[in-house]
Amino acid sequence: MSDKKAQVKNMFDNIAGRYDFLNHFLSFGLDFYWRKKALKLTELNPDSILLDVACGTGDVAIQARKMGVQKIYGADYSHNMLKLFENKSDWIAGRLVQMVAESIPFKDESVTNISVAFGVRNFYNIQEGFNSFYRVLKPNGKATIIEFRMPSNKILKAVYGFYFKNILPLLGGIISGDKAAYTYLPDSVEEFDKKVNLEKLLLNSGFSEIKKYNFTFGTVQVVIAQKQQKKY
Ligand SMILES: C[S@@+](CC[C@H](N)C(=O)[O-])C[C@H]1O[C@@H](n2cnc3c(N)ncnc32)[C@H](O)[C@@H]1O
Repeated sequence: MSDKKAQVKNMFDNIAGRYDFLNHFLSFGLDFYWRKKALKLTELNPDSILLDVACGTGDVAIQARKMGVQKIYGADYSHNMLKLFENKSDWIAGRLVQMVAESIPFKDESVTNISVAFGVRNFYNIQEGFNSFYRVLKPNGKATIIEFRMPSNKILKAVYGFYFKNILPLLGGIISGDKAAYTYLPDSVEEFDKKVNLEKLLLNSGFSEIKKYNFTFGTVQVVIAQKQQKKY
Protein backbone atom coordinates (compact mmCIF):
# COMPACT_ATOMS: atom_id res chain seq x y z
CA MET A 1 0.00 0.00 0.00
CA SER A 2 1.37 3.47 -0.88
CA ASP A 3 2.36 5.72 2.04
CA LYS A 4 -0.29 8.31 1.27
CA LYS A 5 -3.03 5.70 0.81
CA ALA A 6 -2.40 4.19 4.25
CA GLN A 7 -1.73 7.50 5.99
CA VAL A 8 -4.94 9.17 4.75
CA LYS A 9 -7.11 6.18 5.62
CA ASN A 10 -5.69 5.95 9.15
CA MET A 11 -6.04 9.70 9.64
CA PHE A 12 -9.74 9.78 8.70
CA ASP A 13 -10.51 6.61 10.64
CA ASN A 14 -8.89 8.31 13.63
CA ILE A 15 -10.62 11.72 13.48
CA ALA A 16 -14.02 10.45 12.21
CA GLY A 17 -15.81 10.94 15.54
CA ARG A 18 -14.93 14.65 15.68
CA TYR A 19 -14.95 15.30 11.95
CA ASP A 20 -18.43 16.83 11.56
CA PHE A 21 -18.17 19.09 14.56
CA LEU A 22 -14.74 20.38 13.55
CA ASN A 23 -15.76 20.85 9.93
CA HIS A 24 -18.67 23.11 10.86
CA PHE A 25 -16.83 24.85 13.70
CA LEU A 26 -13.58 25.60 11.85
CA SER A 27 -15.37 26.76 8.67
CA PHE A 28 -17.87 28.87 10.68
CA GLY A 29 -20.65 26.76 9.16
CA LEU A 30 -19.69 27.80 5.63
CA ASP A 31 -19.08 24.20 4.55
CA PHE A 32 -22.86 23.67 4.29
CA TYR A 33 -23.15 26.69 2.00
CA TRP A 34 -20.23 25.54 -0.21
CA ARG A 35 -21.73 22.10 -0.78
CA LYS A 36 -25.22 23.51 -1.45
CA LYS A 37 -23.97 26.13 -3.90
CA ALA A 38 -21.79 23.61 -5.77
CA LEU A 39 -24.72 21.21 -6.14
CA LYS A 40 -26.97 24.03 -7.38
CA LEU A 41 -24.36 24.90 -10.03
CA THR A 42 -24.30 21.22 -11.01
CA GLU A 43 -28.02 21.40 -11.87
CA LEU A 44 -29.00 18.07 -10.37
CA ASN A 45 -32.54 16.87 -11.02
CA PRO A 46 -34.83 14.16 -9.56
CA ASP A 47 -33.60 11.69 -12.23
CA SER A 48 -29.92 12.21 -11.39
CA ILE A 49 -27.92 9.19 -10.25
CA LEU A 50 -25.28 10.56 -7.92
CA LEU A 51 -22.16 8.84 -6.66
CA ASP A 52 -20.61 10.89 -3.87
CA VAL A 53 -16.96 9.87 -3.80
CA ALA A 54 -14.92 10.43 -0.62
CA CYS A 55 -18.36 10.95 0.91
CA GLY A 56 -17.04 10.82 4.47
CA THR A 57 -19.91 11.39 6.87
CA GLY A 58 -22.24 12.17 3.97
CA ASP A 59 -22.88 15.91 3.98
CA VAL A 60 -22.83 16.26 0.17
CA ALA A 61 -25.15 13.30 -0.30
CA ILE A 62 -27.49 14.59 2.43
CA GLN A 63 -27.64 17.99 0.72
CA ALA A 64 -28.35 16.34 -2.65
CA ARG A 65 -31.16 14.34 -1.08
CA LYS A 66 -32.68 17.57 0.30
CA MET A 67 -32.58 18.91 -3.27
CA GLY A 68 -34.72 16.02 -4.48
CA VAL A 69 -32.16 13.49 -5.78
CA GLN A 70 -33.33 9.97 -4.93
CA LYS A 71 -30.65 7.69 -6.37
CA ILE A 72 -27.58 8.42 -4.29
CA TYR A 73 -24.56 6.23 -3.52
CA GLY A 74 -21.74 7.05 -1.14
CA ALA A 75 -18.19 5.80 -1.43
CA ASP A 76 -15.23 6.26 0.83
CA TYR A 77 -12.07 4.51 1.85
CA SER A 78 -12.51 5.07 5.60
CA HIS A 79 -14.75 2.57 7.33
CA ASN A 80 -15.28 4.85 10.34
CA MET A 81 -16.42 7.77 8.20
CA LEU A 82 -18.89 5.51 6.32
CA LYS A 83 -20.24 4.16 9.61
CA LEU A 84 -21.00 7.71 10.80
CA PHE A 85 -22.80 8.46 7.53
CA GLU A 86 -24.87 5.30 7.96
CA ASN A 87 -25.82 6.35 11.51
CA LYS A 88 -26.82 9.85 10.34
CA SER A 89 -29.21 8.81 7.55
CA ASP A 90 -31.89 6.15 7.45
CA TRP A 91 -32.04 6.09 3.63
CA ILE A 92 -28.40 5.39 2.72
CA ALA A 93 -28.14 1.84 4.10
CA GLY A 94 -27.15 -0.59 1.35
CA ARG A 95 -25.85 2.23 -0.84
CA LEU A 96 -22.48 2.76 0.78
CA VAL A 97 -19.32 1.27 -0.64
CA GLN A 98 -15.90 1.11 0.95
CA MET A 99 -13.52 1.71 -1.95
CA VAL A 100 -10.78 3.92 -3.30
CA ALA A 101 -11.63 6.63 -5.81
CA GLU A 102 -8.82 5.40 -8.03
CA SER A 103 -10.66 2.14 -8.71
CA ILE A 104 -14.44 2.53 -8.49
CA PRO A 105 -16.22 -0.84 -8.56
CA PHE A 106 -19.16 0.49 -10.61
CA LYS A 107 -20.09 -0.46 -14.19
CA ASP A 108 -19.06 1.80 -17.07
CA GLU A 109 -21.51 4.64 -17.72
CA SER A 110 -23.67 3.86 -14.70
CA VAL A 111 -24.15 7.26 -13.02
CA THR A 112 -25.08 10.75 -14.22
CA ASN A 113 -23.13 12.62 -11.53
CA ILE A 114 -20.10 12.28 -9.35
CA SER A 115 -19.38 14.65 -6.51
CA VAL A 116 -16.26 14.87 -4.39
CA ALA A 117 -15.96 17.46 -1.66
CA PHE A 118 -12.62 18.08 0.04
CA GLY A 119 -11.49 14.64 -1.09
CA VAL A 120 -9.48 15.00 -4.31
CA ARG A 121 -6.54 16.56 -2.47
CA ASN A 122 -6.28 13.37 -0.44
CA PHE A 123 -6.33 10.91 -3.36
CA TYR A 124 -3.09 8.99 -3.69
CA ASN A 125 -3.37 9.27 -7.49
CA ILE A 126 -5.65 12.06 -8.72
CA GLN A 127 -5.26 11.16 -12.41
CA GLU A 128 -6.37 7.58 -11.77
CA GLY A 129 -9.27 8.95 -9.75
CA PHE A 130 -10.44 11.14 -12.64
CA ASN A 131 -10.00 8.28 -15.14
CA SER A 132 -12.24 6.25 -12.90
CA PHE A 133 -14.82 9.08 -12.72
CA TYR A 134 -14.85 9.36 -16.51
CA ARG A 135 -15.39 5.65 -16.96
CA VAL A 136 -18.41 5.35 -14.63
CA LEU A 137 -20.11 8.56 -15.82
CA LYS A 138 -22.76 8.34 -18.53
CA PRO A 139 -22.31 10.56 -21.61
CA ASN A 140 -23.23 14.15 -20.63
CA GLY A 141 -22.55 13.22 -17.01
CA LYS A 142 -20.78 15.64 -14.71
CA ALA A 143 -18.08 15.45 -12.07
CA THR A 144 -18.34 18.18 -9.44
CA ILE A 145 -15.22 18.82 -7.42
CA ILE A 146 -15.15 21.02 -4.32
CA GLU A 147 -11.74 21.70 -2.87
CA PHE A 148 -9.89 24.24 -0.76
CA ARG A 149 -7.47 26.64 -2.39
CA MET A 150 -5.26 29.48 -1.22
CA PRO A 151 -6.63 32.95 -2.09
CA SER A 152 -4.64 34.78 -4.79
CA ASN A 153 -4.86 38.23 -3.17
CA LYS A 154 -1.67 38.76 -1.15
CA ILE A 155 -3.30 40.40 1.90
CA LEU A 156 -6.07 37.83 2.05
CA LYS A 157 -3.53 35.07 1.61
CA ALA A 158 -1.55 36.37 4.60
CA VAL A 159 -4.62 36.72 6.87
CA TYR A 160 -6.13 33.41 5.81
CA GLY A 161 -2.71 31.72 5.96
CA PHE A 162 -2.35 32.81 9.57
CA TYR A 163 -5.72 31.34 10.53
CA PHE A 164 -5.21 28.22 8.44
CA LYS A 165 -1.66 27.44 9.57
CA ASN A 166 -1.77 28.54 13.20
CA ILE A 167 -5.27 28.75 14.69
CA LEU A 168 -6.92 25.88 12.81
CA PRO A 169 -4.24 23.25 13.62
CA LEU A 170 -4.25 24.37 17.25
CA LEU A 171 -8.03 24.13 17.72
CA GLY A 172 -8.34 21.07 15.48
CA GLY A 173 -5.55 19.35 17.39
CA ILE A 174 -7.04 20.07 20.81
CA ILE A 175 -10.59 19.04 19.88
CA SER A 176 -9.76 15.97 17.77
CA GLY A 177 -6.75 14.87 19.77
CA ASP A 178 -4.89 14.48 16.45
CA LYS A 179 -2.73 17.57 15.84
CA ALA A 180 -1.04 15.93 12.85
CA ALA A 181 -4.37 15.66 10.99
CA TYR A 182 -5.03 19.38 11.35
CA THR A 183 -1.47 20.26 10.38
CA TYR A 184 -1.84 18.00 7.34
CA LEU A 185 -4.89 20.03 6.24
CA PRO A 186 -3.15 23.41 5.59
CA ASP A 187 0.04 21.69 4.40
CA SER A 188 -1.83 19.57 1.89
CA VAL A 189 -3.88 22.55 0.64
CA GLU A 190 -0.73 24.59 0.08
CA GLU A 191 1.01 21.77 -1.74
CA PHE A 192 -2.09 20.99 -3.80
CA ASP A 193 -2.40 24.66 -4.75
CA LYS A 194 1.19 24.80 -5.96
CA LYS A 195 1.42 21.48 -7.74
CA VAL A 196 -1.98 20.34 -9.00
CA ASN A 197 -3.72 21.61 -12.11
CA LEU A 198 -7.20 20.12 -11.83
CA GLU A 199 -8.28 21.30 -15.28
CA LYS A 200 -5.32 19.63 -16.97
CA LEU A 201 -5.89 16.35 -15.15
CA LEU A 202 -9.59 16.39 -16.04
CA LEU A 203 -8.80 17.07 -19.70
CA ASN A 204 -6.27 14.20 -19.67
CA SER A 205 -9.02 11.88 -18.46
CA GLY A 206 -11.25 12.85 -21.39
CA PHE A 207 -13.53 15.51 -19.90
CA SER A 208 -14.22 18.32 -22.34
CA GLU A 209 -16.33 21.11 -20.91
CA ILE A 210 -14.88 22.45 -17.66
CA LYS A 211 -16.37 25.23 -15.56
CA LYS A 212 -14.59 26.79 -12.60
CA TYR A 213 -15.89 28.86 -9.69
CA ASN A 214 -14.34 30.40 -6.58
CA PHE A 215 -16.23 30.88 -3.31
CA THR A 216 -15.55 32.85 -0.12
CA PHE A 217 -12.66 35.12 -1.17
CA GLY A 218 -11.09 32.36 -3.24
CA THR A 219 -10.59 29.94 -0.35
CA VAL A 220 -12.74 27.27 -1.98
CA GLN A 221 -12.89 26.22 -5.62
CA VAL A 222 -15.55 24.30 -7.47
CA VAL A 223 -14.78 22.62 -10.77
CA ILE A 224 -17.56 21.03 -12.82
CA ALA A 225 -16.38 18.80 -15.66
CA GLN A 226 -18.70 17.27 -18.21
CA LYS A 227 -18.25 14.10 -20.26
CA GLN A 228 -19.19 14.69 -23.88
CA GLN A 229 -22.16 13.00 -25.51
CA LYS A 230 -21.05 10.17 -27.80
CA LYS A 231 -20.84 11.04 -31.51
CA TYR A 232 -22.10 8.35 -33.90
C1 LIG B 1 -12.10 15.83 4.19
S1 LIG B 1 -13.06 14.39 4.09
C2 LIG B 1 -14.45 14.94 3.13
C3 LIG B 1 -15.73 14.24 3.48
C4 LIG B 1 -16.99 14.79 2.80
N1 LIG B 1 -16.92 14.71 1.36
C5 LIG B 1 -17.29 16.19 3.23
O1 LIG B 1 -17.65 17.01 2.38
O2 LIG B 1 -17.24 16.47 4.43
C6 LIG B 1 -12.15 13.46 2.91
C7 LIG B 1 -12.63 12.02 2.76
O3 LIG B 1 -11.94 11.47 1.63
C8 LIG B 1 -11.73 10.09 1.89
N2 LIG B 1 -10.65 9.66 0.98
C9 LIG B 1 -9.39 10.11 0.92
N3 LIG B 1 -8.71 9.52 -0.07
C10 LIG B 1 -9.57 8.67 -0.66
C11 LIG B 1 -9.47 7.77 -1.75
N4 LIG B 1 -8.33 7.64 -2.43
N5 LIG B 1 -10.57 7.05 -2.10
C12 LIG B 1 -11.72 7.16 -1.39
N6 LIG B 1 -11.89 8.01 -0.35
C13 LIG B 1 -10.82 8.74 0.00
C14 LIG B 1 -11.36 10.06 3.37
O4 LIG B 1 -11.50 8.78 3.91
C15 LIG B 1 -12.33 11.11 3.93
O5 LIG B 1 -13.52 10.53 4.38
